[in-house]
Amino acid sequence: TQKVIIDCDPGIDDSLALMLALASPELEILGITTVAGNVPSDLGAKNALKILNHCHRLDIPVYCGASKPLKRTYVSAQDTHGADGLGESKLPEVSHPYHLGASDFINQALYNEPDLTIITLGPLTNIAQAHQKAPAAWKNCGRLVSMGGNFKSFGNCSPVAEYNYWCDPDAAAYCFDNLPLKIEMVGLDVTRKMLFTPNILELIRQTRPKEADFIQKITRFYFDFHWQYEKVIGCVINDPLAVAYTLWPELCQGFAAHTKIATTGLALGQSIVDEKNFWQAPANSFVLTQVNALAAMKLFLSRACGLDPDMLEQTLPQ
Ligand code: BDR
Ligand code: CA
Repeated sequence: TQKVIIDCDPGIDDSLALMLALASPELEILGITTVAGNVPSDLGAKNALKILNHCHRLDIPVYCGASKPLKRTYVSAQDTHGADGLGESKLPEVSHPYHLGASDFINQALYNEPDLTIITLGPLTNIAQAHQKAPAAWKNCGRLVSMGGNFKSFGNCSPVAEYNYWCDPDAAAYCFDNLPLKIEMVGLDVTRKMLFTPNILELIRQTRPKEADFIQKITRFYFDFHWQYEKVIGCVINDPLAVAYTLWPELCQGFAAHTKIATTGLALGQSIVDEKNFWQAPANSFVLTQVNALAAMKLFLSRACGLDPDMLEQTLPQ
């Protein structure tokens, strides 16, 4: 098994990503850390507990982290995810406690577990703060898989910037410039291929009606948002692909390159990938460009929603 920490801002698609991770026996989740992103980090921690409760996994600790970006005013994404961050689903509160100190928890885990994988599904504030406090802890970090950024795709916060890196561009820039490993960038080019449609919801309903109810509750708001702003029926679920790719790297293709994050001006938050090596700088990232979205969706449905893989082969043929 791969030991992982999931740093996130749940968040509708973060929640779906957590469900996939929790249903994946290859992963041992040491903890879930939350960051100011879609929702404030304390609300994110409460939401993580709601998802753990739903999956009967309250044994996994939740650590609340940074309450705002490193240097800027915090802008949440509650317009996209609902005031509660879970699509106004009104899931029951969980009385189980969460802890404080996400970045210390991450560093301690890095010291204790050589080869730890960190999956980030939100802004990189906790990660930057952890590295700033204890760079030595990061020497043995195995992988950092980050949902964020975009290569050729358009942005979702500006014409060029993706939310997670746009929300805290200074943290993202710090991580790309300083972490001693290649950040595996799962950007919008690949994640926007993960379209969760009403047909898929219906497919879940046929055999797992309770799971369909739960997913419908948290995605309804997201469906409406996508229709209103993009005339898309259904919703793009970005974050689960970062978990799916961690499990099965062969789902995606990409290339190693030097990436910088813009911290000023019109391009604020943009991930600028030096594909042609103009900068002659060593690769600090592995940038995903292609995904087998059908295989990734089947993985998500079989694990997070408990659908029978054979049935999926029949109903979602190649
Ligand atoms: C990312 O931004 C958030 O709104 C989603 O949860 C995802 O992590 C997509 O840009
Ligand atoms: Ca997220």
